[in-house]
Amino acid sequence: MSYFRPEIDEMEGYVPGEQPKGMTFIKLNTNENPYPPSPEVEKLLKSCDFARLRLYPDPLCTELREAAAELYGVRGENIIIGNGSDDILTIAIRSFTSDKKPLGCMTPTYSLYKVLARIQGAECKEVKLNGDFSLPENLLEQASGTGLFIFARPNAPTGNSFPIELIEKFCAGFDGAVMIDEAYADFARENCLGLVGKYPNVIICRTLSKSYSLAGARLGLAVASPEIIAGMMKVKDSYNVNMLTQKIAAAAIRDQAYFTEITGKIKKTRKRLNEELRKLSFAATESETNFLFVSPPDGDGEKYYEYLRKSLILVRYFPGDMTGHCVRITVGTDDETDKLLELTSKYVRSA
Ligand SMILES: Cc1ncc(COP(=O)(O)O)c(C=O)c1O
Repeated sequence: MSYFRPEIDEMEGYVPGEQPKGMTFIKLNTNENPYPPSPEVEKLLKSCDFARLRLYPDPLCTELREAAAELYGVRGENIIIGNGSDDILTIAIRSFTSDKKPLGCMTPTYSLYKVLARIQGAECKEVKLNGDFSLPENLLEQASGTGLFIFARPNAPTGNSFPIELIEKFCAGFDGAVMIDEAYADFARENCLGLVGKYPNVIICRTLSKSYSLAGARLGLAVASPEIIAGMMKVKDSYNVNMLTQKIAAAAIRDQAYFTEITGKIKKTRKRLNEELRKLSFAATESETNFLFVSPPDGDGEKYYEYLRKSLILVRYFPGDMTGHCVRITVGTDDETDKLLELTSKYVRSA
């Protein structure tokens, strides 16, 4: 006998990327930033008034909302803050889906979407990307009837982006809410923030985990119309973001010089890694993220993943028809990239 709802008994839980205990691995498996957070974050933590921790944090994250609003050129009322963007995704799925209103998303994409829908008791309608990971023609038709459709743009784990015109056309023609998960947009050429003022159903989701190097602090946010934000505020936990994270996230956002420096370094290393892997006959999608999704010359993603693992480099392998020929490699420091390339070159030569 089980005490759980049948959906919970029947579902597989989400499996996050491995977080090994020792630091013997070069860790390129969960798209963390290889550089430390802004020095402003360290200063702030060192000067923290720890006695204040006895109090609850600001439930509205007022200071941080204002800092984010200034950065994105919107108002505080256009922003909701979450405990990582996973929390924002949870809030959205609880807000817009039910047993009568399925979630829609592409496949392959961030696999947490589907898990969150199951927990909510909602079905997940998955729309298959084309073989080159582009959007299919009849997307609107396939998405019909879903209460919320989520795009990861740029997409994970594939790393490519989708044309903004296609996303805009979708938002204009779709009668549910559309979330554009821009976890990696700070590494991309363009983003969809401009759609918020134009379409009442658009929600942009962002995270400080990748481009601001704050995965451990857990901070995500969404930008949308005041009406959408007010509704999502009803669904979130009152104190969903702790006091320290609210402070350090605001400090990180204000330090745009440092943000530009580290995202610039990552984009430069991404270009080099991509070029060098192509020289070794790897196939790679054009990445707009801080990772590459690459296929080794023999098309056996699992074998290459196992080889790197034995050589103490951790990358991520996604089994399946559409993804099993590839591995996802987070862009690390230049030294980490050199080591990866040296081992990969040996791998190719020994094949
Ligand atoms: C597409 C996408 N969205 C959201 C997240 C979650 O990020 P966060 O650390 O903000 O919860 C990830 C994490 O890898 C991701 O790949």
